[in-house]
Amino acid sequence: MSALDASTPDATAEKTPIVVTGVAGFIGSHCAERLLERGETVIGIDEVNDYYDVKVKEQNVALLRKKGSSKFAFYRGDICDKKLLETIWATHGKPRRVVHMAARAGVRPSIDDPFVYVHSNVEGTTRLLEIAAKYGSDSFVFASSSSVYGGSTATTFSEADAVDHPVSPYAATKKACELLAYTYHHLYNLHIAALRFFTVFGPRGRPDMAPLKFVDKISRGVPIQQFGDGTSSRDYTYVDDVVQGIILALDTPAGYQVYNLGNGSPTKLTDFISLVEKETGKKASIELLPEQPGDVPRTCADISKARKMLGYDPKTPFADGIRKLVEWYREAHPHVGETPECIARAAMERRLMAAARRKDREQMLDPELLTLFRAARQSRGNGRDRAHTVGRSNPSTLRPRITSRSFDDLCLLERSASERPPSPVGEARAGKLQRDVLQGFVETVREKPTHPSIPTLAMVRASRSSALSLRSPKMADVFAPTPPTNPTSFKHGPAP
Ligand SMILES: NC(=O)c1ccc[n+]([C@@H]2O[C@H](COP(=O)([O-])OP(=O)(O)OC[C@H]3O[C@@H](n4cnc5c(N)ncnc54)[C@H](O)[C@@H]3O)[C@@H](O)[C@H]2O)c1
Repeated sequence: MSALDASTPDATAEKTPIVVTGVAGFIGSHCAERLLERGETVIGIDEVNDYYDVKVKEQNVALLRKKGSSKFAFYRGDICDKKLLETIWATHGKPRRVVHMAARAGVRPSIDDPFVYVHSNVEGTTRLLEIAAKYGSDSFVFASSSSVYGGSTATTFSEADAVDHPVSPYAATKKACELLAYTYHHLYNLHIAALRFFTVFGPRGRPDMAPLKFVDKISRGVPIQQFGDGTSSRDYTYVDDVVQGIILALDTPAGYQVYNLGNGSPTKLTDFISLVEKETGKKASIELLPEQPGDVPRTCADISKARKMLGYDPKTPFADGIRKLVEWYREAHPHVGETPECIARAAMERRLMAAARRKDREQMLDPELLTLFRAARQSRGNGRDRAHTVGRSNPSTLRPRITSRSFDDLCLLERSASERPPSPVGEARAGKLQRDVLQGFVETVREKPTHPSIPTLAMVRASRSSALSLRSPKMADVFAPTPPTNPTSFKHGPAP
């Protein structure tokens, strides 16, 4: 590979297309939208994996196609696919600017399945840096994360802080990307900016993150889970502000730089919940759970460097951002909380929560949960295959959406029952379930009210309820990447 000197950005750079990876995702799609608005040609890449409902991502791509018309091209594929990248660079005149947003995001799932994170984040970023170095680059910006600050107790997080102690595989991959980016800058003189985002939220947001999750659940009357005592705080950043920072960094190549892109003013979890209650007009039902491994107690960005070097100026206070998010949510889901499926699901989740709290023996957990669990177990054959959290980087590979930990917990529970359970066929009725198995489950829930399987299985059950109507549900029915289309069903798709 020849090292091309990119120290002086090409004066015609504005005319070359911009590659945006992760373009179907939350931040990538907003970024591409803004770039199209200012007249750029955008080449989007995304594998559209099923980390969350793929329909949400497909809608993002459709929006960009509509907005960009001939100025937008989309490639569905893995950024680790060298041939795909070569084709894109050859077809589009060797793009010299890259906005790299594609990644496996999310802290907790990275603990269950670190390998998909290493694949998409570390290998994927290296592939893009390679091609940028090979064909020349004027500006390469990529998404790092505030999670690189780990459990830092500093009052504000500055780019000058040492970040050698990431507390999750996700954070470690982001730190690894920063190190690789520096190396490519050093070897090939590329202009690269690592952008540390601080909890980004807004319309079309990620359904696995607290802002949209809380707005969604509170709007539907479904309980929310609060991890810890509510004193933890986050520096939430409205998506328009982050996009402003990304584009400023892209337009300001300056060797290798790391920038915090945050809001600079953290919000306490309890205040956040009150704000969502105010904007949605609904009272939250809160399930208190212990802190999760990998979570950090407080984040607050020192954004003085981005202000000074880029002119970054976040304009959306958290309260305004939540108001805009709720407005968008209402427009996107006008019938939320009203459809029969919504009502049934809210009731089911409340029942599960009550089950976790109850001390008496009579109550029964939703028997359908157990049926689903058994269907999943059966299709896993000899049990050598490990369950994975959510999809894979190759979306054609079907994976159960339960964690290996929750699956193993349930296997233990099942073994504690006196009889081996029958096949899932015909178990859809409560009366036909083996009472001892169900009781074993109930007892454990009673002893361990924070059992990690409860919310996960609630999600599985709720998102794949149609599988229960089948005589013998198969893995594909239970864990299909896209729920079957049902015009009367809840539009937003499965809960995160
Ligand atoms: N949202 C936040 O608060 C936040 C905070 C810190 C950092 N980040 C980072 O910002 C970036 C964008 O985050 P987001 O919230 O928009 O997440 P997102 O999940 O909505 O978007 C990421 C997109 O990347 C795609 N992708 C993942 N692996 C891929 C691969 N191997 N090949 C091609 N496409 C792939 C996914 O399909 C997805 O559409 C990510 O790098 C994330 O780690 C986000």
